[in-house]
Amino acid sequence: MINKQNNLLAINGGTPITKEKVLIHKPYLLEDDFKAVDETTRTTFISGNGPKCMEFEKKLADYLGVKHVFFTNSCTTALDLAFKAKNFPAGSEVIVPNFTYTSSALGPLLNNLKIVLCDVYPDNGNIDVSKIETLITNKTVAIVPVDYAGNPAEMDEINAIAKKHNLYVVHDTAQSIGAEYKNRKTGTLADVSTFSFHGTKNLTTGEGGALLTNDDEIAKRVTFMREKGTDKQSFLVDNKDRGFYEYVDIGSSFVQSNILGALGITQLNKIEEITQKRTQIAEYYKNELANIRGLDFIRITDNSKPNWHLFGILVSPEQRYWIMDALRAEGIMSNVHYTPLHRNKFYKGMATDKEMQGSMKFFSRLLRLPIYPSLTQNEVENVIKAARKIFS
Ligand SMILES: Cc1ncc(COP(=O)(O)O)c(C=O)c1O
Repeated sequence: MINKQNNLLAINGGTPITKEKVLIHKPYLLEDDFKAVDETTRTTFISGNGPKCMEFEKKLADYLGVKHVFFTNSCTTALDLAFKAKNFPAGSEVIVPNFTYTSSALGPLLNNLKIVLCDVYPDNGNIDVSKIETLITNKTVAIVPVDYAGNPAEMDEINAIAKKHNLYVVHDTAQSIGAEYKNRKTGTLADVSTFSFHGTKNLTTGEGGALLTNDDEIAKRVTFMREKGTDKQSFLVDNKDRGFYEYVDIGSSFVQSNILGALGITQLNKIEEITQKRTQIAEYYKNELANIRGLDFIRITDNSKPNWHLFGILVSPEQRYWIMDALRAEGIMSNVHYTPLHRNKFYKGMATDKEMQGSMKFFSRLLRLPIYPSLTQNEVENVIKAARKIFS
């Protein structure tokens, strides 16, 4: 039971659990990362799609067991490319979960497609599979499931619906590198998947992303479109008898610097360690915070192993902001997440709160706690102490 008047709480003038703030996020960058960036910066190849980028793509493809990997400058551009590669008629419809980052919707929108919002489960924020078919019309061409917090969406069910209605599946795996669904890694579970390597993600290149696919046709188009519509890729890979490259298609510049390719490699070398450390922290939180009345955890998808990109707790909507402020006063940085799309200025009018009850319930209960590999045991204990103090 929460007693908001408790004088011992730092928010009410009591002594905080820690004076050293426990940050909500820190990138996991070690000496091998700094060295790789330094060494590559000193080579003459620092521009786009260099040898380090290609090595990173190859290593990521091997790690996942996927045929084609395209390192891009963000997940947002990878989502854009995923739709650019298909040429769907303008106005075709794409089903997007209502609880996601705007980029999941921008991919279709940037390609003159219409988005149709689908509600999510109130207990984990992933697309509510039971609602997808009710939204399919003769204009529907694709679905964009998202793995919220690195907890995989129900991809078998989603792919089955897609197969039945001949739909394209673009899996927004921005948050889920290293996660598994039925013993298969995310990034391999749909027609196209898209990772983010933004500074907050489990594997980071500062900014960055990747498009992954087993489809040769999609890969062929993406190869040109990522490079301003040119065939520079073949020029870079095999430049024996050609001194030029051609402009063969429409496109834009979605390539990454060779410096970031080098960073991708050293980060990928640590991915198992990163996932393991995050999993240990998540399990510790779950053990230590179990059985607190009014504090629930996000439901994990059956037969899945999340990568624990985020650790969310679900609390009472009426007290959520107060709990966030109380945690912060104790020295623990906590935060809310994603205002449902339909509640944002740009998407307003596309759905009502009544139609989006799952998203509204999840959003209004969600608080995120610090989780990252460099979080010390002392910091983890402080998070737990602060939560117990507030909920006691
Ligand atoms: C679900 C989802 N999709 C896409 C993105 C965009 O990623 P990026 O910043 O790499 O473009 C994010 C960013 O956090 C995200 O959470």
